[in-house]
Amino acid sequence: MSHADGNPAPLCLAATGPLTGDVTVPGDKSISHRSLMLGALAVGETRITGLLEGEDVLATAAAMRAMGAQISRSDNGEWRVSGVGVGGLLQPQTALDMGNSGTSTRLLMGLVASHPITATFIGDASLSGRPMGRVITPLSLMGATIAATPGAGRQTLPLTLTGACPAIPLRYTLPVASAQVKSAILLAGLNTPGETVVIEPIPTRDHSERMLAGFGAALSVVQAPEGRIITLRGEAELKPQTIDVPGDPSSAAFPMVAALIVPGSDITIRNVGINPTRAGLISVLQAMGGDIRLLNERTVGGEPVADLQVRHSALTGIEVPPDGAPSMIDEYPILFVAAAFAQGRTTMRGLEELRVKESDRIAVMAQGLTACGVSCEELEDGLIVEGCAGDPIPGGATIAARLDHRIAMSFAVLGLNAARRVTVDDARPIATSFPTFVPMMRQLGATARN
Ligand code: S3P
Repeated sequence: MSHADGNPAPLCLAATGPLTGDVTVPGDKSISHRSLMLGALAVGETRITGLLEGEDVLATAAAMRAMGAQISRSDNGEWRVSGVGVGGLLQPQTALDMGNSGTSTRLLMGLVASHPITATFIGDASLSGRPMGRVITPLSLMGATIAATPGAGRQTLPLTLTGACPAIPLRYTLPVASAQVKSAILLAGLNTPGETVVIEPIPTRDHSERMLAGFGAALSVVQAPEGRIITLRGEAELKPQTIDVPGDPSSAAFPMVAALIVPGSDITIRNVGINPTRAGLISVLQAMGGDIRLLNERTVGGEPVADLQVRHSALTGIEVPPDGAPSMIDEYPILFVAAAFAQGRTTMRGLEELRVKESDRIAVMAQGLTACGVSCEELEDGLIVEGCAGDPIPGGATIAARLDHRIAMSFAVLGLNAARRVTVDDARPIATSFPTFVPMMRQLGATARN
């Protein structure tokens, strides 16, 4: 059952004492999507452990199956992907249902763009409002034909894409700091003759580059004055890999902030990815006074990983440097929550991209925080939060999660230190990225009420 089926499931978390214990979080969502996609394009069998079994990643698995890959899960949780080879994707027989997942949609559009097939992409109400022009523009330049639905001044799903074969190699400077756009172009470049070049003036998560190289593609990255220049040689042959997916830092962010704001807490989150293009939240929370220690730092499958020990801390408001935004873009909703408990003012800017995520995360967080008695000011590109200096926030509100998993989890965490209940109207979207969120919070000592 997906989050779009059945009745809303309200959620209210409470903490009757400190949060304690050792937990793990599910596998990294970005790496999980890419493991399935690249495995499906390799010749031979890729084995994946630690795959995130959330709805977004399952949508990618279903789409890759519909285009010819064989994908199965063993009882021990290992996933096996038998790929079709670059250039070998088959015409899907029905529309590809992307559910809530922007990453599945944009990256798969890239894959289809250089194959001689046509695919229709559909999604839920949240995804169907998100802008696709940012991938339509470069993929059209590579020769793909794309018919999208016009919506509120943007091109949206449902859309139908017919790939070009051969596609035209592209040299493209990213107009928005987006790993999804970068990755869509690189994935299209896999089955394109010659060199596909993406220039990113502002660095974004680099999992595609690491994993493409790991699967054997000829890829180089050069740091130049205009930005990171990523060059991929097309008509690549990918070799199957064995992948161990590290825990998702974007999911670890929720128990991390929960421990920081609940008095007396001391928790350890094991096996969390700390790739520098993803780990911005840790340094920002440390700069706010958060007691977060990185233990047992190591490398797993080409990605840096650590165990995180987090203790309750007196936080202080800061000006969060905007240039770090891409390295923590999905973590701002929960950072806004941390800021609500800090002493003084936290200013967060440079966040225009938050307005086109699963919801308009600036507006939705500002409304919800205000409803819970937290004073904040919405800016065009960010939020200013006046913290309660560690005291319980007033609470006493029901928050509309608007089909956004991270909004739902952020307000569930906010309610852990609230004078009156904070209820999230519908927790089902949490299953897109963190199906074990509620059991994990219970394991740490929180209680969940409906
Ligand atoms: C992702 C990139 C980011 C992020 C998303 C996952 C990826 O999106 O918000 O959750 O896996 O490439 P943008 O590329 O839109 O910034």
